[in-house]
Amino acid sequence: MHDTPSSFTTWVAQQRQELENFLEQRMPPVNQIPHGLHQAMRYATIGGGKRLRALLTLATAEMVQADHQTALLVASSLELIHAYSLIHDDLPSMDNDSLRRGKPTCHVQFGEATAVLAGDALQSLAFQWLSEPTSGMPSTSALTQVRLLAIASGSRGMAGGQAIDLASVGMPLSLPELEAMHLKKTGALIRAAILMGTHCGGASLSDNEQQSLTHFANRLGLLYQIVDDILDNTSDSATLGKTPGKDDAECKATYVTLLGLSEARSKAQEVLNEALDTLSRLSHDSQHLQALTQQIYARHH
Ligand code: IPE
Ligand code: IPE
Ligand code: MG
Ligand code: MG
Ligand code: MG
Repeated sequence: MHDTPSSFTTWVAQQRQELENFLEQRMPPVNQIPHGLHQAMRYATIGGGKRLRALLTLATAEMVQADHQTALLVASSLELIHAYSLIHDDLPSMDNDSLRRGKPTCHVQFGEATAVLAGDALQSLAFQWLSEPTSGMPSTSALTQVRLLAIASGSRGMAGGQAIDLASVGMPLSLPELEAMHLKKTGALIRAAILMGTHCGGASLSDNEQQSLTHFANRLGLLYQIVDDILDNTSDSATLGKTPGKDDAECKATYVTLLGLSEARSKAQEVLNEALDTLSRLSHDSQHLQALTQQIYARHH
């Protein structure tokens, strides 16, 4: 049985609300010292963002019938790492951006030092949550989650991809180099979101299924950043909630700067088809993952 579009929309709205409540209740309160740091952490995390990584975790966890409260904690941990990556991505020493999620960026609002520390502390908090004895996971699963997230966010994952991104400013990358960069800087966390969903408890996947899901996760991660590159080139700040045209202005290596808009669009379509095709080979009910994949492809912000 397939979800109607409206039941998918209802599912997304409900998950987003639960994530928002979780973050609101579990993040350190502003009235706790240091007030400014806690305020900056909350500012960059709560009340914004599409929560697509978290939704991918929740959809995957649902597919293996995992415990929903555990999945919510794991999904929220991912959002903390993502929020940290955005704070640092926007810093003057990185992309030097002043608009994020329709608001001034964290360093514009709170100063650069606080923004750096807010990113650092969000990262620590993510690992704290995953390792809480009350996470609902046996300690072996919690350890797996910590490891998956550490690998995805570290120098061979997101942080490494960001380093390659910065090092390649003004230097043409080959297509395989560009794909490798995207798979790290954005793909690694997306892939982790899906893999972590399978470790929230529930049914285990066969080796074959795990392999297909990993292939799907890699394609989706790549798709995510290709679409981000296209939107940077085609959208406006009111729709995007961030400054468009930055990639061109900063001579970034992107699918659009390398291939041009029309070929970048064809590439996105090709990667979308590959991702959906891989998903259709799973024996589990992946309707929410399918719908999220379509949403990632067709998004306007
Ligand atoms: C933006 O991520 C940065 C990328 C890795 C492409 P999102 O587009 O998921 O940003 P939010 O969380 O919805 O603001
Ligand atoms: C950022 O890529 C990826 C990470 C934050 C890891 P971009 O620099 O393209 O993201 P936006 O466009 O500023 O959101
Ligand atoms: Mg960047
Ligand atoms: Mg950026
Ligand atoms: Mg971008």
